[in-house]
Amino acid sequence: MRASYFAAVLAVVAIPAVWAATDEPIKPIKPAVIVQPALVELGKKLYFDPRLSRSGFISCNSCHNLSMGGSDNLSTSIGHNWQKGPINAPTVLNSSMNVAQFWDGRARDLQEQAGGPIANPGEMAFTHELAVETLESIPQYVSDFEKAFGPGPLTIAKVTRAIAAFEETLVTPNSRFDKWLAGDTQALTAEEHEGYQLFKSSGCTACHNGPAAGGASFRKMGIVEPYRTDNPALGRVAVTGRDADRFNFKVPTLRNVELTYPYFHDGAANTLTEAVEVMGRIQLGRKYTAEENAKIVAFLRTLTGDQPRFEIPLLPPSSDRTPRPNPFTDPPPR
Ligand code: HEC
Ligand code: HEC
Repeated sequence: MRASYFAAVLAVVAIPAVWAATDEPIKPIKPAVIVQPALVELGKKLYFDPRLSRSGFISCNSCHNLSMGGSDNLSTSIGHNWQKGPINAPTVLNSSMNVAQFWDGRARDLQEQAGGPIANPGEMAFTHELAVETLESIPQYVSDFEKAFGPGPLTIAKVTRAIAAFEETLVTPNSRFDKWLAGDTQALTAEEHEGYQLFKSSGCTACHNGPAAGGASFRKMGIVEPYRTDNPALGRVAVTGRDADRFNFKVPTLRNVELTYPYFHDGAANTLTEAVEVMGRIQLGRKYTAEENAKIVAFLRTLTGDQPRFEIPLLPPSSDRTPRPNPFTDPPPR
């Protein structure tokens, strides 16, 4: 009686451990390991600091809101002077896993990327020089930079390095799908599990694979059938100049995808149901029944992981030298 009780317990414990799948196309997300806490803390402040924008109003978090899956939930973003952005803002969550940054991959890594929006006239509309001058006028930032980097001038390279170090911590482990990957067979419902099997057997994993379920390659949008959009973005060809890269976009991560609507580079699909319908039809030539579509959507929702949790950073006080921008009198950039 006793022995068989233990045997049963052992069996229950042992089966998942043996089963834990390593040959699945989607891999688990590992939690962040913070090796330079002072650098990450500084990066967090900079990420939330609107004083890095010309208006004094827009921070990274304005368009990559960490309360909303690292996105702005708009088809395209709103930038300086209420300008309509050209393309959908991807999530910053798990972006450290991307092969390169931006839809067309024009930034090699997170540090190179972070310089872009500060100086982009349609986003934060500042200059790197003015951003550095503003930070230098804030005594506590000067000491934060020295704590993180040691003595030396405050430079834009340090600003972007700190922001990238913070972004590297924005990973989302422990989704229900990860628990299932680790051997917890109860973590998915039958419908979600069937959705995953359909996702795999249809060929979605040819592009959406790896820990981020995407982010690893540039692929054509519209393989079986062309994608129709008014958005003028041409994709990867803008970087490589190669005609073969026309309308190739970075495959987006599907991690936390239920939070990051609307979908596609033009933000044209408002719901996952719509996005799955389009993907099946134009990438794979599949027309899913409503039931099949619902199963895949149910699976996609299991990819929502633990969202980064931290206290909202308290930003250091401005000094009298810190600029007091007036966005109402500031002429719009041409
Ligand atoms: C006005 C809105 C806006 C602001 C402010 C903004 N971003 Fe973005 N961000 C975007 C948009 C739009 C894209 C996509 C642009 C493209 O691919 O051409 C993007 C792309 C990115 C990416 C690439 C993600 C990927 O999967 O390719 C990262 C990382 C990122 N932003 C981080 C930041 C950081 C850090 C800041 C602050 C320094 C910032 N963003 C400020 C709108 C914004
Ligand atoms: C040949 C590669 C490929 C295949 C196969 C593929 N996708 Fe995609 N997927 C992409 C690319 C590239 C994008 C971004 C396209 C764009 O916005 O221009 C994308 C975007 C998406 C998005 C929107 C994500 C976002 O944040 O905007 C979802 C959801 C999605 N795919 C799900 C699926 C599903 C479900 C399947 C299977 C039915 C599938 N994909 C098959 C390449 C692929």
